[in-house]
Amino acid sequence: MRQNADLCVIGGAGHVGLPLALAFADRGLRVRVVDVNRRALAAIAKGRMPFMEEGGAALLRRVLKSGRLELTDKASGIRGARFVVLTIGTPIDEFLNPRTGDIEAALKPLLPHLGGRQTLVLRSTVTPGVTEWVGRFLRGKGVKAGVAFAPERIVQGRAVEELGKLPQIVSGTTRAAEDEAAALFGHLAPRIVRLAPREAEFAKLFCNAYRYIQFAAANQFYMIANSAGLDYSRIHRGMKEGYDRLRDLPGAGFAAGPCLFKDTMQLAASPDHDFNLGHAAMRANERLPVYIVRRLSQRHDLAKKTVGLLGMAFKADNDDPRSSLSYKLKKLLALRAKAVLTTDPFVRDPALRPLAEVVRKSDILILCAPHTAYKGLDTRGKVVADVWGFFGRGNRV
Ligand SMILES: NC(=O)c1ccc[n+]([C@@H]2O[C@H](COP(=O)([O-])OP(=O)(O)OC[C@H]3O[C@@H](n4cnc5c(N)ncnc54)[C@H](O)[C@@H]3O)[C@@H](O)[C@H]2O)c1
Repeated sequence: MRQNADLCVIGGAGHVGLPLALAFADRGLRVRVVDVNRRALAAIAKGRMPFMEEGGAALLRRVLKSGRLELTDKASGIRGARFVVLTIGTPIDEFLNPRTGDIEAALKPLLPHLGGRQTLVLRSTVTPGVTEWVGRFLRGKGVKAGVAFAPERIVQGRAVEELGKLPQIVSGTTRAAEDEAAALFGHLAPRIVRLAPREAEFAKLFCNAYRYIQFAAANQFYMIANSAGLDYSRIHRGMKEGYDRLRDLPGAGFAAGPCLFKDTMQLAASPDHDFNLGHAAMRANERLPVYIVRRLSQRHDLAKKTVGLLGMAFKADNDDPRSSLSYKLKKLLALRAKAVLTTDPFVRDPALRPLAEVVRKSDILILCAPHTAYKGLDTRGKVVADVWGFFGRGNRV
């Protein structure tokens, strides 16, 4: 390894960490990726993105060629770097509470290598209070590094484009740490927005919870209209046509994935406030697959039907199955249908079957993730449940 990197990205082989590492390296910084996932590191070293990311492969090749990217699975890799950016996953537990212990576990191996001239920048989405806690934790261990929080707000899969466009919120437990984080992100972001750590932590969670609530409103409206025997796609179009105030109202569809649900629950888990709206959003979004099964079972004897699920990723044109509602639907149907077949052009899952086989063998098809590849799909006259209205035949179920 080289003597000094400008910055190290802990979790730098992940969905947030890797595009960030590449973006900084592309701007001329010497970047070291530190990640425990050796398989992903090996793929990156060969110029292969471990997941789908628009423009990621070309950027990775360019950055590897520049020699400004190093990869290691050793915590000691952070030694001497001015910035240490933490991008590890911050999931919730089975009781929907934040797993704050993960941050402590990730920090412990770093402690012997962190020094007073360094700034630790938290970029993972964290529960309010974590940034200040990390500051106290480090001080308690005699580590003098500065602590900042600079949340990631990209949409998954489009980080390469968005990192250079989105304003960057920065905060720090000291003014010096905040200034350092602002200097770092000044290389990337067109605008720096300064907040206090707790404000920044809430801001990030509110961004995701708001999006989740918007999807929930759309899905609740869909279920109400559909239960009234109406085609919601027509109502949706009619409401929005020429009416700018509703420009943000999304269409109906599965709303899940690794962030929106868990970040809404991070807010809801706090003992300091109620978040009834967040819980209501969870109930609406998580209800949609249940509702589809219920509607189909009212019209079909599912025990005699093979059901095919199209798209197992949590969203369209992505390969990430984390917290995908397609898998919730699969579990629901496994108890009710004769058989459940699943397919996806991007997700890696040994249970998946080729698209043509799923279409051929299924009596009922459910569009779960509207991948562009499904446009114009010949569904061979099968019953199709398409809450997205993707196939252009309305979205009644
Ligand atoms: N996925 C998104 O689009 C997105 C967007 C905004 C914010 N976030 C937030 O960013 C964070 C990361 O999410 P992600 O989707 O990139 O997760 P991810 O699982 O894709 O990436 C996390 C990476 O951290 C690595 N890792 C875990 N523990 C480690 C350790 N102790 N040392 C070194 N490496 C370690 C993992 O191997 C993995 O490569 C989460 O807090 C998430 O809420 C994600």
